[in-house]
This record gives sequence, structure tokens and C-alpha cells, in this order.
Amino acid sequence: MQKTVKDYIRTIADFPHEGIMFRDVTTLFGDPRGFRIAIDQLLHPYAGVRFDKVVGLEARGFILGGAIAHQLSVGFVPIRKKGKLPGAVISQSYQLEYGEAVVELHDDAIQPGEKVLIVDDLLATGGTAEAGIKLVERLGGEIIGCAFVVDLPDLGGRKRLEGLGMDVHALCAFEGL
Ligand code: PRP
Ligand code: MG
Repeated sequence: MQKTVKDYIRTIADFPHEGIMFRDVTTLFGDPRGFRIAIDQLLHPYAGVRFDKVVGLEARGFILGGAIAHQLSVGFVPIRKKGKLPGAVISQSYQLEYGEAVVELHDDAIQPGEKVLIVDDLLATGGTAEAGIKLVERLGGEIIGCAFVVDLPDLGGRKRLEGLGMDVHALCAFEGL
């Protein structure tokens, strides 16, 4: 049997905190077949769909989103942590386990009505993706889909994004926290 996307993902126990099983996609990205099938499968549901922009969430969403944008021959737009983008930005805060984080988007990166695919490596609580969705929608972008390599269903992110009307696509799921 050939390896699936999930088979290429390494799990590291107790990172970054004790009790956390960290799903490490660097082993997927580092394998030539693994990376290719991940990109192909992320795009699979959208065959024939026209996008204007791929939006990647910092940091691993940049790696996936860059490859996907190249494949689609469309532009890539980064959503970055606060203070990293040089131009005029819009900002969105979201809750972390402890405290709050802020992500930003250049205010001219998406034009009203543009069709957008949002990409990240992993969907956990959905807080990061929701902040990204809000940023894109504030600029008038139309989000066609949100694509992830990993879903952690027990953390509720998929339900949260679907509750916002999003189409959520994930290549594999890990049960438990
Ligand atoms: C991880 C992961 C997602 C996010 C998912 O990123 O890459 O972006 O958490 O969690 P959520 O669904 O609960 O928001 P992290 O914030 O660790 O930052 P990084 O990608 O820059 O390493
Ligand atoms: Mg991230």
C-alpha cells in the first residue's frame, strides 16, 4: 500500500507543552511524493473552480499556499502575525489558550469580489482561520473554500468555520487532543 498524506505526518509528544501531541508536517513537506500529493489533494475538490487569490496563514500556510497559487497560476497573499507586513494593514485579533493574538493583511491585497482560497496546515480551534476569514471578508473577498492538511475534530474548528458558512476541506484528521 502506498503511503497516504497522514502517513507522512510525524507526531511529537509533549511539544510545545506537556500533554500536547504535535502534528509535525515538516516530514510531509520534506518528502517529494508527500508534498506533491498533499498539494494535489488540497486542490482536488476545486477542479474547474476559478480563484483570483490564494491566501496563506502564517507560517506553514505560506508553504502550502505558495505551491497552490503557482499550480493555479494565481497570486499569493500572506496573512501575517502583527507587525510583519510593511504596508498599510487591517488587523484582526483572536483568542489563544492564554491571551490574544493579532493577524494582519495588507489593505490592498484583495479587491472586492475576488474569489479566495484560504490555506493553512492545521485546523484546531479554528481561531486563526476565523481571523483570516474576517480579514478577507472585510476587504470584500469572496471565500470559496478553506483547505487544511490536518483537522483536529475534537477541538471544533471545522464546526466553527462551517457555522460561518465556510466550505472546509481537510486531508486527514487526528482524533484526541
Ligand atoms: C498553528 C497552526 C494553525 C493554528 C491552528 O499555528 O499552524 O495556524 O495553530 O490553531 P487554531 O485552529 O486553534 O487557531 P501557530 O499559531 O502555532 O503558528 P505558526 O503556524 O506560525 O507556527
Ligand atoms: Mg499556523
